[in-house]
Amino acid sequence: MSTLPSEQTVSGAPAQPAEQGRAVEQPATLANGQARPPAVIEARGLCKRYGQHWAVRDLDLVIHEGEIFGLLGPNGAGKTTTILMLLGLTDPTAGTVRVLGHDPWREPLAVKASVGYLPENVGFYDDMTGRQNLMYTARLNGLPEAVAKERVQSLLEAVGLAHAADRPVRVYSRGMRQRLGLADVLVKSPRVVILDEPTLGIDPAGIREILDLIARLAREERVTILISSHLLHQVQQICHRVGIFVGGRLIAHGSVAELSQKLAGGAPLVVDVEVEPKEDARRARDLLAGLEGVSSVDADPKTGRLQVSCSRDVRAKIARTLLEHGVDLVGLGLHTYGLDDIYHRYFQGGDAGEQREPVAGARPA
Ligand SMILES: Nc1ncnc2c1ncn2[C@@H]1O[C@H](COP(=O)(O)OP(=O)(O)OP(=O)(O)O)[C@@H](O)[C@H]1O
Ligand SMILES: [Mg+2]
Repeated sequence: MSTLPSEQTVSGAPAQPAEQGRAVEQPATLANGQARPPAVIEARGLCKRYGQHWAVRDLDLVIHEGEIFGLLGPNGAGKTTTILMLLGLTDPTAGTVRVLGHDPWREPLAVKASVGYLPENVGFYDDMTGRQNLMYTARLNGLPEAVAKERVQSLLEAVGLAHAADRPVRVYSRGMRQRLGLADVLVKSPRVVILDEPTLGIDPAGIREILDLIARLAREERVTILISSHLLHQVQQICHRVGIFVGGRLIAHGSVAELSQKLAGGAPLVVDVEVEPKEDARRARDLLAGLEGVSSVDADPKTGRLQVSCSRDVRAKIARTLLEHGVDLVGLGLHTYGLDDIYHRYFQGGDAGEQREPVAGARPA
């Protein structure tokens, strides 16, 4: 791997087309034959080293216009470091970045003009009200007063803060500050929005609202959105694609469905079974363990659930066997690989490389 200093290009030069088959990119055409929207964020071979520690290694990432991309990973995975490089707030040790065709390290102002960034810890003028803070940002961005007023009001409503708009920010809760942060990012109508853990400190209903708002932005205004989070469950609802980041490396990427499929591809066939009463799970296990085609059975008498690993689909045989022995079957189906499996496989599995962080902080909250 290269450890050369960042490869710099001429100011304003458009990004090179993706290196085929390498970058985390999708085909040039969509399933319906239409051309894929242009690339908005592109990272090639991006690396960041702090001392001897590689915070980000060989990152190839392409995010297209209107796409919501989730950068997911446990604490210390390198998400914030990646974001700082995309924004030109820290220089890459190696590799290149283009945001809307600009090199953020060389042309920070060009990037700043079109990119809204919500950092992990949002800072506001605490003695000013939420509205005053947003108006301040609007003026800084050159919005005419009347336009600014209207925009600020509609954003305060959109993030659910209209009722608290005229209170000083010092009395805001963490979740309220986070909402105000999102509004603040949107004041200048950015083309790209980068949100570092935007749902931190927000209650579940609020998270839903904020995520809906983000999804609407991407859909209606073609804003390209990068969200970092360690909460796979939350952000996957609105992300078109996710990238799973562990120990500085992007170890998997794609839609959640694609990741599930990949997981299922290499995994044995598993049948999920549920019986009642729940204690009958033990008896069911003994009955099913002996069936032809069954390799192992896990049973949990507390939930009444069993997982039957098998070499072929034995659902019919399971149903018959349990029925014949008077065990009430209340659930039966092929196991589908979902988010929890993805989380376990990718966040805690063995694919993370030598830079992998301990997994203690890796579980969803
Ligand atoms: N300024 C710095 N100096 C030295 N090491 C750093 C610096 N910033 C980050 N690191 C290290 O780089 C790694 C990646 O950190 P980063 O903040 O990018 O992770 P993250 O994925 O954003 O984590 P979190 O979910 O906790 O926000 C960590 O091991 C961290 O300790
Ligand atoms: Mg972070």
